[in-house]
Amino acid sequence: MMRIVIGKTALVTGAASGIGRASALAFAREGANVVVSDINEKGGEDTVRLIKQTGGNSVFIRADVSNSNEVETLINRVIEIYGRLDFAHNNAGILGELVGTLQYTENAWDTVISVNLKGVWLCMKYEIPQMLKLNKGSIVNTSSIAGLVGNNSNPAYHASKHGVIGLTKVAALEFAKSGIRVNAICPGIINTPMIKPNSEKESIIQSELITSNPIGRFGRPEEVANAAVWLCSDSASFITGQFLAVDGGLIAQ
Ligand code: NAI
Repeated sequence: MMRIVIGKTALVTGAASGIGRASALAFAREGANVVVSDINEKGGEDTVRLIKQTGGNSVFIRADVSNSNEVETLINRVIEIYGRLDFAHNNAGILGELVGTLQYTENAWDTVISVNLKGVWLCMKYEIPQMLKLNKGSIVNTSSIAGLVGNNSNPAYHASKHGVIGLTKVAALEFAKSGIRVNAICPGIINTPMIKPNSEKESIIQSELITSNPIGRFGRPEEVANAAVWLCSDSASFITGQFLAVDGGLIAQ
């Protein structure tokens, strides 16, 4: 497609599955060395294998994005292995409990905020110093349409994803003059393990959601990955501090 990143290094978190795996494959297709990171080792190694099967360069490094020591070690390892960090897709995330404000537990709140919100901040905290050394870099954070609109359940998820957009804007403004662009993508409903229905009730809700999507289907992980890689590429050189819905028109309604 773009072939814009030969010789450069991309890091994708949450790359053992779904959108992150598709993003890792898309960066590899464009010629980047790809660091696949996740807490799921087996899925991560499978992503690396898929990249290598297509002739790409990739390694798996395990890291929990909510743990600062692990994130710092991850970035140090990226530099040891590939010598530079050009692109980062901070994508790891969890859904949390599908219940409302009153039923939500403190434990679920802390976990979701740690992974989805603190995790994105920690990744940027250790990624950006490496990009400053190059006077160039590009970051895409995975928010969600849940970062743009509300719903009648899952408050921590919505708060975390709205928060990701705030973090994105601040980092974009802080580093705009340093050659580093920071943007967010807001996927709609994308067919990944995260949205696998756990009950008949959830299956029925999903059928209704497909009908309410203007394009009439859920998105594919590759469709989000293409947007992430494009935002990282020089084709998007004047875009920073933005959020882009990749949602089949869902929130345009
Ligand atoms: P997924 O569940 O297929 O993949 C998420 C990956 O993140 C998994 O491999 C998981 O092991 C990893 N992960 C979870 N906690 C982690 C941690 N503490 N440290 C490192 N890795 C961790 O889900 P999907 O759908 O690919 O989600 C990717 C991102 O896209 C998430 O941030 C999610 O919130 C977001 N998103 C997904 C949508 C969807 O409809 N699938 C819609 C909007 C946003």
